[in-house]
Formats: sequence, C-alpha cells, structure tokens
Amino acid sequence: MTHPALPTARLGADGPLVGVQGLGCMGMSEFYGPTDTTESLATLDAALEAGVTLFDTADMYGSGHNEELIGPFVRANRDRVVIATKFAIERRAEDPGYRAVRNDPEYIRGAVDASLRRLGVDVIDLYYMHRRDPAVPLAESVGAMAELVRAGKVRHLGLSEVTGAELREAHAVHPIAAVQSEWSVFSRDVERSVVPAAAGLGVAFVPYSPLGRGFLTGSFQDAEQLPADDFRRTQPRFTGANAKANDALLEPVRRIAADRGVTPAQVALAWVHQRAQVHGLTVVPIPGTRKRTRLAENTAAATLELHPAELALLEPVAGEVAGDRYPSMANTQVERE
Ligand SMILES: NC(=O)c1ccc[n+]([C@@H]2O[C@H](COP(=O)([O-])OP(=O)(O)OC[C@H]3O[C@@H](n4cnc5c(N)ncnc54)[C@H](OP(=O)(O)O)[C@@H]3O)[C@@H](O)[C@H]2O)c1
Repeated sequence: MTHPALPTARLGADGPLVGVQGLGCMGMSEFYGPTDTTESLATLDAALEAGVTLFDTADMYGSGHNEELIGPFVRANRDRVVIATKFAIERRAEDPGYRAVRNDPEYIRGAVDASLRRLGVDVIDLYYMHRRDPAVPLAESVGAMAELVRAGKVRHLGLSEVTGAELREAHAVHPIAAVQSEWSVFSRDVERSVVPAAAGLGVAFVPYSPLGRGFLTGSFQDAEQLPADDFRRTQPRFTGANAKANDALLEPVRRIAADRGVTPAQVALAWVHQRAQVHGLTVVPIPGTRKRTRLAENTAAATLELHPAELALLEPVAGEVAGDRYPSMANTQVERE
C-alpha cells in the first residue's frame, strides 16, 4: 500500500505505478564518504513506509556491493518494491579506477544475470542502459534488452544520459518506460532535447542528483570539506572559485526556504517535482540519502508547491552555474546533442 501522503505516478504507458519520489541507493555503498549499513537499511524500510516504492541502484555502485546490500530488503518486500538497476559501466576488481562503457549484446546478457544473482531476485522491474556507447548500434543494444524482457528477466526498459534522438530511436525498437538523467535547479541540460522527446513519447523522467549531489542542500560549500575519497572532489562545479560562485547562486533557494519555513533541500526537490506540470511529463526524482531524517524531509517535499514568483527566482540559476557536471563530459548526452 502506498502511503496517502505520497502521490503515485506511472512509469511509461504500461510501466509500474510508483510513489512519485523514489530513493537513490548509490551513496549507501560508495562515492559520498563513509557509509553506515545499519542506518542505510533502516532508511530503506522508512522509505517504503513513507510510500516510496522505486529503489534505484546500478551494478557499478560499489562494484556490485550496492545490489548485494539492498537485495535482502528487495526480497523481503518483493510485491511492493519496484527495483531499478543498470548496466553499461564496466569495472574491474584488480583496477579500482578502471571504467569502460559497454553496450554490446554479449556484455548485456552477462550483466543482467550478475545483477539478478546479486539482488537475489528472478526479475528486475526496470533495467537501464547506464551510459551509451555510440560505437554499438542502438538498435542492437535495445534489441538485446528487449530479449531480456521476452525471457522474463526484466519487466521494463530505461535509458540514462541519452539524447532526444536516441530516446526516439530506442523507443521504436521497444517501449522505454523511463529516462534517468541529471535534472535539478543547477543542471538543466536535459531540457534541450531529451525532456521534450520523453514528453512527446509518454516516457517518464527520473531525475538523478536532484539535490545537486547535496550541494543544493547547503550541507557543503566546497568539496574540500568532504572526505579525501569523496567523488564530488573531482567534479569541477564543487571546487575552488567555481564552488564559491555556485554557492552564492543558492541565495534564492535559501531565501525561499526561510520564507516558507522549509529546508533548501525541500525547495530544490519541489522545483524538480514541479517540472511535471511545466514540461507535461511524469517526473519521479530519486534523491539519494542514507539517513531516515533526510528521507522524511525529502518525501515531504513531493507535495510542496512553489509559487510562480518563487519559480521565477530559481529560473536563471542553472544558466549561471560555473563548471561541468563531471570531470569529463564524454559519455553524457550533452556530448552527442
Ligand atoms: N544514472 C546516473 O548516471 C546516475 C548518476 C548519479 C546518481 N544516480 C542515482 O541517483 C541517485 C540520487 O543522486 P545522488 O545521490 O547523486 O545526488 P542527490 O540525490 O542530489 O544528493 C545526494 C546527497 O545529498 C545528501 N542529502 C540527501 N538528502 C538531504 C537532505 N534533505 N539534506 C541534506 N543533505 C541531503 C546525501 O547525503 P546522505 O546520504 O548523508 O543523506 C547525499 O550526499 C543516486 O543515489 C543514484 O541512485 C544515477
């Protein structure tokens, strides 16, 4: 049963009905400093209790650790949880820094079996291509993903960091339920081509990093404040002069939060939820947190409505952000648009 406080939305024409805010599980294993398994597992339970049903992981998060971590929770609540995982970013145990984008059918067939094994389930509800390798024809990759649906290993298909043209091409091969790409007050590249394409096709949008990887919440002002191995230290917009300039851009977020008696995180999330009305498509953001207190704060934002004057204050922010989303923008949809 979905909690009445969290509305529901359908992913694609015939995809699952999910709570309109999902939970990103990535930080429970890697990328954002020290992890806390006990609190992470309690956060998963609290999310389900709050009406969150879409849980987001990927095979590359912690090189399989994240799927293994959440597997028992998924199995214990199999009829309520919609589990989304991803393939395409290959890692190697012997070389922690190694990354390669793989879209070839043979790789996909091996990846899905490994994810099913780590999650301990017999079907994945939503299976995303995490990154696009333009060297492999899209029809070949999506064709291989469609075969997984026919084989009963996967229920629905998704794509991450694709262009509008790629989404249309893939959707013609097999219906795509959801596109997952970065979308926030700070990151609006997707509005150029993939958002209009998704709206036109009836594909749901699942914004990742809707809190700007935590920067929009004010929990850090410069990545220098974060642990030495924190991934955000590599992201150009969170360091040095860029971080200082970008923190100043958050002034309207802070002002709206103070006026409305909510937190900056809630303002940032409400903005993302409201993209559904602005762009005429289903939007299910997946903020990531490992803490029950933040989970409650974030889900409360799903029904917070920003007024037109507040939206107008936030409108120019993304255009002024200094620094890219990633140290290299290769493999993002921006490079191919
Ligand atoms: N498809 C892709 O390429 C891709 C890329 C990145 C992420 N993702 C997915 O999207 C999910 C969400 O993105 P994300 O985790 O990168 O970024 P995010 O949701 O924008 O931000 C997460 C960060 O914000 C902190 N946080 C969460 N709620 C907060 C609150 N209310 N107040 C203050 N801080 C708060 C979290 O810390 P705590 O955990 O300590 O609360 C964490 O450090 C990931 O978990 C992952 O599943 C997908």
